[in-house]
Amino acid sequence: MKQDLIVILDLGSTENTVIARQIRSLGVYSEIHPHDITAEELKAFDNVKGIILNGGENRIVNGQAVEIRTELYELGFPMLSIDYPQAKCEEQFCGIPGDEVLKKFIFEECGAQANWNMKNFIEDQVELIRQQVGDKKVLLALSGGVDSSVVAAMLIKAIGKQLVCVHVNHGLMRKNESESVVKVFRDELHANLIYIDASDRFLGKLENVADPEEKRKIIGSEFIRVFEEEAGKLEGIDFLGQGTIYPDIIESGTKTAKMVKSHHNVGGLPDDLKFQLVEPLKQLFKDEVRACGVELGLPHDMVYRQPFPGPGLGVRCLGAITRDRLEAVRESDAILREEFAKAGLDKKVWQFFTVVPDFKSVGMKNNARVFEYMVIIRAINTVDAMTATVEKVDWEVLERITDRILSEVKNVNRVCYDMSPKPPATIEFE
Ligand code: XMP
Repeated sequence: MKQDLIVILDLGSTENTVIARQIRSLGVYSEIHPHDITAEELKAFDNVKGIILNGGENRIVNGQAVEIRTELYELGFPMLSIDYPQAKCEEQFCGIPGDEVLKKFIFEECGAQANWNMKNFIEDQVELIRQQVGDKKVLLALSGGVDSSVVAAMLIKAIGKQLVCVHVNHGLMRKNESESVVKVFRDELHANLIYIDASDRFLGKLENVADPEEKRKIIGSEFIRVFEEEAGKLEGIDFLGQGTIYPDIIESGTKTAKMVKSHHNVGGLPDDLKFQLVEPLKQLFKDEVRACGVELGLPHDMVYRQPFPGPGLGVRCLGAITRDRLEAVRESDAILREEFAKAGLDKKVWQFFTVVPDFKSVGMKNNARVFEYMVIIRAINTVDAMTATVEKVDWEVLERITDRILSEVKNVNRVCYDMSPKPPATIEFE
């Protein structure tokens, strides 16, 4: 391993990830582990340089007061305790430590090297993947999203044609999205890529289904079925690549937030698939995943694309999906993206898209009454997608987009701009 490791033990603080990120930004690799980790488990990492006991206000996990195992004190690693109960403040560190405190601990007391960077990370992962996989094959569901694309690029670098990518086009992708996956991975990176156009199959299953959660379920389970069928046709696959990232791991089990929508990602596969997992990004935060993608040579647009829901345009073609409205969502989304890029808004706005509701309104075209659909434009900014504010888009930009949608998109006679923050609205409409 090329990187030194600072271990953060979670004693109930809500600031674990803040500190992990702070340490990584100082160039030293850091991971969060549970408070009850054993000495044996810690010793198994061969690169630990120091331990941070992160208790926050009161060292409580799931309502229980916690302490680390006393055997950990005997390992001899330098330790920094971060607790801030009022009474103890004089003798121990209080609050989130500043860079100076962390630097002194990490570099002087632990003697760690600032050797955490993407180049070393990729070299380490390539070596680990080769050790894990040997001469066997790995299967990967390549959606074209950031995480699966970066995993694919990493696996191609490590094992080349031993990776088999399957891209399922569910017919709910944005304009040219599947084409670009094929172009980048098959034509440029020479991946072993199986492309399946399952549009008709998905749209058939979704016919007359109006309930959003039902639509999500159908898309998710149909995806798994198509993927399993493809996997069944292949021989000698022992591993499954997955784009699990660090927040998926540290959030699982501790999430108490009430479910508003089931965020079923296309690519969330069932446990009973008999494969071992290869998850080379599981230690990375999202911005690090993007940096990794850039270092691996993926195109900027693929790595910095805005979030796109797994069920794709399916949840933006409101109610029961029809081909004409799906086409209107896809075409208007493409126009919006083009015009936002021209106005430089694609780098500024966190997420923007169009939606087509399942009702019509009256209008006039060529002096005749028409009864057609409307396109709603949504453009929002957020930090964590839990709350969001609406982008104040320049009036002229909105007029240009409106003109283009009204003249270029079939079956549309009206364009609206959504002014609703989250809450009470959600970012998507379904
Ligand atoms: P909401 O609509 O809940 O969206 O405010 C928050 C963020 O999550 C995205 N989103 C999804 N992502 N599968 C996904 O992978 C889904 O089913 C899904 N629904 C919403 C949404 O685009 C926004 O970024």
